[in-house]
Amino acid sequence: MPIIAPSMLASDFANIQKDTELINDSSADWFHIDIMDGVFVPNISFGLPVTEAIQKHAKKPLDVHLMIVKPENYIDQFAKIGAEIISVHWEACPHIHRTIGQIKEAGCKAGVVLNPGTPVSVLEEIITDCDMVLLMSVNPGFGGQKFIHSTIEKVKKLKKLIVASKSSALIEIDGGVNLETGKALVDAGADALVAGSFVFSNADPLQTIINLKNL
Ligand code: DX5
Ligand code: ZN
Repeated sequence: MPIIAPSMLASDFANIQKDTELINDSSADWFHIDIMDGVFVPNISFGLPVTEAIQKHAKKPLDVHLMIVKPENYIDQFAKIGAEIISVHWEACPHIHRTIGQIKEAGCKAGVVLNPGTPVSVLEEIITDCDMVLLMSVNPGFGGQKFIHSTIEKVKKLKKLIVASKSSALIEIDGGVNLETGKALVDAGADALVAGSFVFSNADPLQTIINLKNL
């Protein structure tokens, strides 16, 4: 059964407590928290205060995805407000090894994110240090985009690297996940699926999450 992480980017921001409780009551595993700064990605989402508001009501781990430049400046603050996993983009970190260490020192699990155009091979020297690798299956910045199909082959490549290096890193996929793409991803070796619009735009989000869990 895959880990399911609904993205709060697709929740109703005017009713964030209600949507947080909906996820508490669902069979989802994590809250996926998308932080966008309008610089690393061409969109602004929300930051620390909104994440804290979600955290106050959340009864499941927060999986924080930092789509920001200089993420090292914010890791300690996200750790302090209760992030369990913090993922940083490889493309935003000139000193990725140091940044992974900083996330762990802050008491969190460390994830590294790759954009669709970044090859898995950049992880060779750090894969045993990663608790998670998050592969973007859309270009980051917006919910509701079309799934990039070459991600399936990329998951297989990543799985090979993880097995060969005896890493315990989980594979998480983010963008355009639905039942069809989710099934192909799980079959290819994905451990965790992020789903935003597919969950929150559905008339029955609870059943949608169950359907994703059963992939
Ligand atoms: C995209 C974000 C995703 C997004 C996924 O930049 O990182 O987490 O919310 O949204 P869907 O599932 O709608 O593609
Ligand atoms: Zn995300």
